[in-house]
Amino acid sequence: MVILINPSILESSFIPERLIARDAELTRIMETVIKPTKNGITTNLILYGDSGTGKTVTMRYLAREVKDPHVVYVNAIAYRYVKNVLIDFLSRFGIIVPERSSYASLFTRIESLLKDQGKNVILVIDEASNILKGDYDGLYYLFRSKDSFDVNISTIFVVMEDPAILFDSKIRKSYGMFGEMKFRRYTKNEIYQIVVNRALQSLVDGGYDDDVLDYIAEVSAEYGSARVGIDILAKAAHIAEYRRSAKISFDDVRAARSMISPFVTESKLASMDYEDLLVLLAVCRCLSSSKFTDLDCVSQNLSMISEQYGKRDINLYDRIRKLENNGMISATLEGQGRGEGVKKMISIYDVPVSILTERIENLLNA
Ligand SMILES: Nc1ncnc2c1ncn2[C@@H]1O[C@H](COP(=O)(O)OP(=O)(O)O)[C@@H](O)[C@H]1O
Ligand SMILES: [Mg+2]
Repeated sequence: MVILINPSILESSFIPERLIARDAELTRIMETVIKPTKNGITTNLILYGDSGTGKTVTMRYLAREVKDPHVVYVNAIAYRYVKNVLIDFLSRFGIIVPERSSYASLFTRIESLLKDQGKNVILVIDEASNILKGDYDGLYYLFRSKDSFDVNISTIFVVMEDPAILFDSKIRKSYGMFGEMKFRRYTKNEIYQIVVNRALQSLVDGGYDDDVLDYIAEVSAEYGSARVGIDILAKAAHIAEYRRSAKISFDDVRAARSMISPFVTESKLASMDYEDLLVLLAVCRCLSSSKFTDLDCVSQNLSMISEQYGKRDINLYDRIRKLENNGMISATLEGQGRGEGVKKMISIYDVPVSILTERIENLLNA
C-alpha cells in the first residue's frame, strides 16, 4: 500500500505556495527591510527563534517571491567567516573568485555586480551563529561596506539563540543598530493547519483521517515546531505502509513520535541558557557510568564545572526543576529508610549521555 505518493512535499527543501500563520512577520519584514532596501536604505535584522518555527522557509519564500530588491539566501552552517558568505553570494551570479580574495576586492566585485543588476540586494545569512559569534573583522567590513566601498547591501541574520545571549553589550555597540525579530513557536492549531496542507499534497486520498492529523499536531505542539509535525507525518506514513495498512493509525503516530527524540533533544538544548547547560553537563558527568544520580553528585561536579567556565552562584535546585519541567531529565523521589526523608534520584532516558555531553560541550565552547 502506498500512502506517501509525493514525498518531496514533506522534505525540508520544499517551499510551500503560501506560508501559514506568518502574515504579521512577513508584513514586518516587508516594512522594515524590503521596502527600505528597495529605496536604497540599508538595514540589518536578526531573525531568531527555536527550531522548526519557519525561519528558513520564510526566508526562502521571500527569496522566491520578492523580485526587487534581490533577496539572496545563503546557508552559512559550514562557514566561519563573512568572506565565505560573500564568495558564495557572488557565485550565485556566476562570479567565481579565489578563496583568498581581500574584502576590498570582494566588495569591488559586488559593487559592479549591483550596478549591472540595477537593483539593491538583501543578503540572508541563515545559520549565522558562528559568524556572529566569531568573525568580528568580517562583520566590521560588512557593516561598513556602504561607507568604505559604496555597496548598498542589507543583511538578515538568522539564528536560533536570543541575540541578547548571542553577543554581549560591547559587541552590540560596536556593531551598531540591529533590528530584532522573534519567530515564536507555533500553536497546536497552527501546526494542524500546516500538517493538513502538506498531507493534502503528499498523501493518497483516504490514507489518513483528520483525527490522525489532529493527533500529530497535538504531539508536536509541545515543541511548537512545524518540523516536528511534518516529520511525524512522514514517518507515520512510512510506518503505516510498512505494516501494509491503507491508513495511518494513532499508533503509527506514536511510533513516529518516539523516533524523533534526537532532534527534540537538539531543540531543547537550543532553548537553554548557559547556566542550564552547565547544570545539565554536571548531571551527564554523574550519569556517565550509572543509571541514576543524586543532587550531591551533581552539586560536586557543578562546582568543578562552574570554576572551569567561570560561573558562580548557580541555583542548582531551580535549574534542576527547570530541566525536569522541559523533559530533559527525569527525577523521582526515593525513600531513604525510616526517618531519613526522601532523596531526589535523577536520570536521563531519551539520549545517550555520551552524545549529550558532547553536544553540550560543543555549545559551551562555541
Ligand atoms: N508557516 C509555515 N507554513 C508552512 N510550512 C511551514 C511553516 N513554517 C515552517 N514550515 C515547514 O516546517 C519545516 C521547518 O521549518 P523551517 O523553516 O526549516 O524552520 P527553522 O528554520 O525555523 O528551524 C519546513 O518543512 C517548513 O517548510
Ligand atoms: Mg532553519
